[in-house]
Amino acid sequence: MTAEAPVLDVRNISKSFGGIKAVDDVSFTVNRGEILGLIGPNGSGKSTLFNCILGQSRPDKGKVEVNGKPVLGMRPCDLSKRLGVARTFQMLQVFPQMTVLDNIILAGQEHSGTMLGRLMGASDAGLTESADRLIAFFRLGHLRDELAGSLSYGQQKLLDAAMAFMAGPQLVLLDEPAGGVNLTMLEHLKDRLSTYNRENGSTFVVIEHNMEFVMSLCTRILVLANGAIIAEGSPEEVRANPIVIEAYLGS
Ligand SMILES: Nc1ncnc2c1ncn2[C@@H]1O[C@H](COP(=O)(O)OP(=O)(O)OP(=O)(O)O)[C@@H](O)[C@H]1O
Ligand SMILES: [Mg+2]
Repeated sequence: MTAEAPVLDVRNISKSFGGIKAVDDVSFTVNRGEILGLIGPNGSGKSTLFNCILGQSRPDKGKVEVNGKPVLGMRPCDLSKRLGVARTFQMLQVFPQMTVLDNIILAGQEHSGTMLGRLMGASDAGLTESADRLIAFFRLGHLRDELAGSLSYGQQKLLDAAMAFMAGPQLVLLDEPAGGVNLTMLEHLKDRLSTYNRENGSTFVVIEHNMEFVMSLCTRILVLANGAIIAEGSPEEVRANPIVIEAYLGS
Protein backbone atom coordinates (compact mmCIF):
# COMPACT_ATOMS: atom_id res chain seq x y z
CA MET A 1 0.00 0.00 0.00
CA THR A 2 1.38 3.42 -0.89
CA ALA A 3 1.25 6.18 1.68
CA GLU A 4 -1.29 8.94 1.03
CA ALA A 5 0.28 11.99 -0.68
CA PRO A 6 0.47 15.08 1.53
CA VAL A 7 -2.34 17.59 1.06
CA LEU A 8 0.24 20.37 0.77
CA ASP A 9 3.81 19.91 -0.41
CA VAL A 10 6.00 23.04 -0.37
CA ARG A 11 9.47 22.56 -1.93
CA ASN A 12 12.41 24.97 -1.76
CA ILE A 13 10.39 28.18 -1.90
CA SER A 14 12.48 31.37 -1.93
CA LYS A 15 11.39 34.98 -2.30
CA SER A 16 13.48 38.15 -2.09
CA PHE A 17 12.43 41.79 -2.08
CA GLY A 18 15.46 43.76 -3.25
CA GLY A 19 18.21 42.71 -0.88
CA ILE A 20 15.86 41.11 1.69
CA LYS A 21 15.48 37.33 1.62
CA ALA A 22 11.90 37.22 2.92
CA VAL A 23 11.60 33.44 2.37
CA ASP A 24 14.77 31.39 2.16
CA ASP A 25 14.52 27.85 0.73
CA VAL A 26 11.52 26.69 2.76
CA SER A 27 10.24 23.12 2.39
CA PHE A 28 7.53 21.34 4.36
CA THR A 29 4.54 19.06 3.93
CA VAL A 30 1.13 18.97 5.58
CA ASN A 31 -0.87 15.75 5.89
CA ARG A 32 -4.62 15.37 5.64
CA GLY A 33 -6.43 16.45 8.79
CA GLU A 34 -3.44 18.20 10.36
CA ILE A 35 -3.62 21.65 11.95
CA LEU A 36 -0.14 23.00 11.35
CA GLY A 37 0.95 26.15 13.18
CA LEU A 38 3.37 28.56 11.52
CA ILE A 39 5.02 30.90 14.01
CA GLY A 40 7.97 33.28 14.03
CA PRO A 41 8.90 36.85 14.96
CA ASN A 42 7.52 39.84 13.03
CA GLY A 43 9.02 40.03 9.55
CA SER A 44 10.19 36.38 9.56
CA GLY A 45 8.42 35.69 6.25
CA LYS A 46 5.20 33.94 7.30
CA SER A 47 2.76 36.01 5.23
CA THR A 48 5.14 36.09 2.26
CA LEU A 49 5.29 32.29 2.39
CA PHE A 50 1.46 32.08 2.27
CA ASN A 51 1.47 34.56 -0.62
CA CYS A 52 3.99 32.42 -2.51
CA ILE A 53 2.01 29.22 -1.86
CA LEU A 54 -1.33 30.64 -3.02
CA GLY A 55 -0.37 32.87 -5.91
CA GLN A 56 -0.55 36.39 -4.44
CA SER A 57 3.21 36.60 -4.92
CA ARG A 58 5.46 34.78 -7.42
CA PRO A 59 8.31 32.92 -5.69
CA ASP A 60 11.83 33.26 -7.12
CA LYS A 61 12.17 29.50 -6.99
CA GLY A 62 10.54 26.36 -5.68
CA LYS A 63 7.31 24.48 -6.25
CA VAL A 64 4.04 23.84 -4.47
CA GLU A 65 1.68 20.89 -4.88
CA VAL A 66 -1.80 20.33 -3.47
CA ASN A 67 -2.79 16.67 -3.52
CA GLY A 68 0.05 16.01 -5.95
CA LYS A 69 -1.00 18.76 -8.40
CA PRO A 70 1.22 21.80 -9.09
CA VAL A 71 -0.50 25.02 -8.04
CA LEU A 72 1.94 27.86 -8.77
CA GLY A 73 0.33 30.27 -11.22
CA MET A 74 -3.25 29.16 -10.51
CA ARG A 75 -5.84 31.85 -9.79
CA PRO A 76 -7.45 31.88 -6.31
CA CYS A 77 -10.91 30.98 -7.70
CA ASP A 78 -9.41 27.98 -9.54
CA LEU A 79 -7.54 26.93 -6.41
CA SER A 80 -10.86 27.02 -4.62
CA LYS A 81 -13.01 25.36 -7.27
CA ARG A 82 -10.60 22.71 -8.51
CA LEU A 83 -8.51 21.95 -5.44
CA GLY A 84 -10.62 23.07 -2.49
CA VAL A 85 -8.07 25.56 -1.16
CA ALA A 86 -8.99 28.78 0.68
CA ARG A 87 -7.18 31.38 2.74
CA THR A 88 -7.64 34.37 5.02
CA PHE A 89 -5.42 37.46 5.05
CA GLN A 90 -3.69 39.19 7.93
CA MET A 91 -5.76 42.33 7.25
CA LEU A 92 -9.56 42.06 7.51
CA GLN A 93 -11.19 41.39 4.14
CA VAL A 94 -14.82 42.06 5.12
CA PHE A 95 -16.91 44.72 3.39
CA PRO A 96 -18.09 47.02 6.22
CA GLN A 97 -21.07 48.43 4.25
CA MET A 98 -22.52 44.97 3.57
CA THR A 99 -24.38 42.71 5.98
CA VAL A 100 -22.81 39.64 7.53
CA LEU A 101 -24.98 37.46 5.27
CA ASP A 102 -24.01 39.32 2.10
CA ASN A 103 -20.30 39.21 2.98
CA ILE A 104 -20.51 35.44 3.29
CA ILE A 105 -22.54 35.06 0.09
CA LEU A 106 -20.06 37.27 -1.76
CA ALA A 107 -17.19 35.10 -0.52
CA GLY A 108 -19.03 32.07 -1.93
CA GLN A 109 -19.41 33.78 -5.27
CA GLU A 110 -15.76 34.77 -5.38
CA HIS A 111 -14.84 31.15 -4.78
CA SER A 112 -17.16 29.92 -7.51
CA GLY A 113 -16.33 32.78 -9.89
CA THR A 114 -19.96 34.01 -10.11
CA MET A 115 -19.57 37.32 -8.29
CA LEU A 116 -20.72 39.26 -11.34
CA GLY A 117 -24.09 37.51 -11.27
CA ARG A 118 -24.67 38.61 -7.70
CA LEU A 119 -23.67 42.19 -8.39
CA MET A 120 -26.12 42.18 -11.31
CA GLY A 121 -28.89 41.11 -8.93
CA ALA A 122 -29.19 37.43 -9.84
CA SER A 123 -30.96 35.33 -7.20
CA ASP A 124 -28.94 32.83 -5.23
CA ALA A 125 -31.23 30.67 -3.13
CA GLY A 126 -28.62 27.89 -2.82
CA LEU A 127 -25.88 30.26 -1.74
CA THR A 128 -28.08 31.87 0.90
CA GLU A 129 -28.82 28.43 2.34
CA SER A 130 -25.12 27.56 2.50
CA ALA A 131 -24.35 30.98 3.99
CA ASP A 132 -26.99 30.46 6.69
CA ARG A 133 -25.54 27.05 7.55
CA LEU A 134 -22.11 28.63 7.93
CA ILE A 135 -23.52 31.52 9.98
CA ALA A 136 -25.14 28.98 12.30
CA PHE A 137 -21.90 26.97 12.55
CA PHE A 138 -19.86 30.06 13.52
CA ARG A 139 -22.74 31.21 15.81
CA LEU A 140 -23.17 34.54 14.03
CA GLY A 141 -26.97 34.16 13.69
CA HIS A 142 -27.84 37.17 15.88
CA LEU A 143 -25.64 39.34 13.61
CA ARG A 144 -26.83 37.92 10.25
CA ASP A 145 -28.49 41.12 9.00
CA GLU A 146 -26.18 43.63 10.68
CA LEU A 147 -23.67 45.63 8.66
CA ALA A 148 -20.23 44.05 9.06
CA GLY A 149 -18.82 47.48 9.93
CA SER A 150 -21.04 47.67 13.03
CA LEU A 151 -19.58 44.46 14.50
CA SER A 152 -16.82 44.41 17.12
CA TYR A 153 -13.31 43.76 15.81
CA GLY A 154 -13.38 40.20 17.18
CA GLN A 155 -16.74 39.50 15.52
CA GLN A 156 -15.35 40.84 12.22
CA LYS A 157 -12.33 38.53 12.54
CA LEU A 158 -14.72 35.61 13.11
CA LEU A 159 -16.74 36.64 10.04
CA ASP A 160 -13.52 36.98 8.05
CA ALA A 161 -12.54 33.42 9.01
CA ALA A 162 -16.05 32.11 8.28
CA MET A 163 -15.91 33.58 4.76
CA ALA A 164 -13.00 31.27 3.88
CA PHE A 165 -15.23 28.26 4.57
CA MET A 166 -18.02 29.11 2.15
CA ALA A 167 -16.79 26.78 -0.58
CA GLY A 168 -16.34 23.83 1.80
CA PRO A 169 -12.54 23.85 1.46
CA GLN A 170 -10.38 20.85 2.31
CA LEU A 171 -7.25 23.00 2.89
CA VAL A 172 -7.39 26.42 4.56
CA LEU A 173 -4.48 28.79 5.20
CA LEU A 174 -5.28 31.30 7.95
CA ASP A 175 -3.04 34.34 8.51
CA GLU A 176 -3.39 35.55 12.12
CA PRO A 177 -7.08 34.69 12.63
CA ALA A 178 -6.81 35.58 16.34
CA GLY A 179 -4.79 38.80 15.95
CA GLY A 180 -6.24 41.50 18.21
CA VAL A 181 -9.14 39.28 19.30
CA ASN A 182 -10.29 39.19 22.96
CA LEU A 183 -10.08 36.06 25.09
CA THR A 184 -13.74 35.00 24.82
CA MET A 185 -13.80 35.35 21.04
CA LEU A 186 -10.43 33.62 20.82
CA GLU A 187 -11.79 30.56 22.66
CA HIS A 188 -14.85 30.57 20.40
CA LEU A 189 -12.73 30.79 17.23
CA LYS A 190 -10.48 27.98 18.43
CA ASP A 191 -13.48 25.81 19.26
CA ARG A 192 -15.07 26.41 15.83
CA LEU A 193 -11.85 25.71 13.92
CA SER A 194 -11.08 22.51 15.81
CA THR A 195 -14.71 21.34 15.47
CA TYR A 196 -14.68 22.02 11.72
CA ASN A 197 -11.38 20.15 11.42
CA ARG A 198 -12.72 17.16 13.38
CA GLU A 199 -16.08 16.98 11.62
CA ASN A 200 -14.82 17.48 8.05
CA GLY A 201 -11.32 16.02 8.10
CA SER A 202 -10.10 19.30 6.60
CA THR A 203 -6.51 20.53 6.88
CA PHE A 204 -5.38 23.90 8.24
CA VAL A 205 -2.16 25.89 8.25
CA VAL A 206 -2.42 28.68 10.84
CA ILE A 207 -0.10 31.68 11.25
CA GLU A 208 -0.51 33.16 14.70
CA HIS A 209 1.42 35.15 17.29
CA ASN A 210 -0.87 34.16 20.16
CA MET A 211 1.09 31.24 21.62
CA GLU A 212 -1.72 29.93 23.82
CA PHE A 213 -3.96 29.78 20.74
CA VAL A 214 -1.35 28.05 18.56
CA MET A 215 -0.18 25.61 21.21
CA SER A 216 -3.70 24.45 22.06
CA LEU A 217 -5.09 24.35 18.49
CA CYS A 218 -2.22 22.91 16.45
CA THR A 219 -0.98 19.36 16.22
CA ARG A 220 2.45 20.39 14.87
CA ILE A 221 4.32 23.66 14.65
CA LEU A 222 6.90 25.12 12.24
CA VAL A 223 9.04 28.04 13.35
CA LEU A 224 10.36 30.60 10.87
CA ALA A 225 13.13 33.12 11.54
CA ASN A 226 14.69 35.35 8.89
CA GLY A 227 12.80 33.50 6.17
CA ALA A 228 14.03 29.99 7.09
CA ILE A 229 12.59 27.13 9.15
CA ILE A 230 14.58 26.92 12.38
CA ALA A 231 12.48 24.37 14.28
CA GLU A 232 9.61 21.95 13.87
CA GLY A 233 7.75 19.69 16.25
CA SER A 234 4.86 19.19 18.65
CA PRO A 235 3.71 22.22 20.67
CA GLU A 236 5.60 20.85 23.70
CA GLU A 237 8.84 20.34 21.71
CA VAL A 238 8.69 23.80 20.17
CA ARG A 239 7.86 25.50 23.46
CA ALA A 240 10.93 23.95 25.10
CA ASN A 241 13.33 24.48 22.16
CA PRO A 242 16.12 26.95 23.10
CA ILE A 243 16.61 27.91 19.43
CA VAL A 244 12.98 29.09 19.30
CA ILE A 245 13.23 31.02 22.57
CA GLU A 246 16.42 32.69 21.30
CA ALA A 247 14.77 33.66 17.98
CA TYR A 248 11.95 35.42 19.82
CA LEU A 249 14.12 37.08 22.45
CA GLY A 250 16.63 38.20 19.83
CA SER A 251 14.03 39.78 17.57
N1 LIG B 1 5.77 43.57 -0.91
C1 LIG B 1 6.90 43.68 -0.22
N2 LIG B 1 7.91 44.50 -0.64
C2 LIG B 1 9.06 44.59 0.05
N3 LIG B 1 9.34 43.91 1.17
C3 LIG B 1 8.39 43.09 1.63
C4 LIG B 1 7.12 42.92 0.98
N4 LIG B 1 6.38 42.03 1.67
C5 LIG B 1 7.14 41.65 2.71
N5 LIG B 1 8.34 42.27 2.70
C6 LIG B 1 9.44 42.08 3.67
O1 LIG B 1 9.67 40.68 3.77
C7 LIG B 1 9.94 40.30 5.11
C8 LIG B 1 8.90 39.29 5.57
O2 LIG B 1 7.65 39.93 5.70
P1 LIG B 1 6.31 39.14 6.07
O3 LIG B 1 5.20 40.11 5.99
O4 LIG B 1 6.23 37.92 5.25
O5 LIG B 1 6.60 38.73 7.60
P2 LIG B 1 5.61 38.06 8.66
O6 LIG B 1 6.35 36.92 9.27
O7 LIG B 1 4.29 37.79 8.07
O8 LIG B 1 5.51 39.25 9.75
P3 LIG B 1 4.30 39.64 10.73
O9 LIG B 1 4.33 38.62 11.85
O10 LIG B 1 4.66 41.01 11.22
O11 LIG B 1 3.04 39.61 9.95
C9 LIG B 1 9.95 41.60 5.92
O12 LIG B 1 11.27 42.05 6.01
C10 LIG B 1 9.09 42.53 5.09
O13 LIG B 1 9.45 43.87 5.31
MG1 LIG C 1 2.40 38.46 8.43
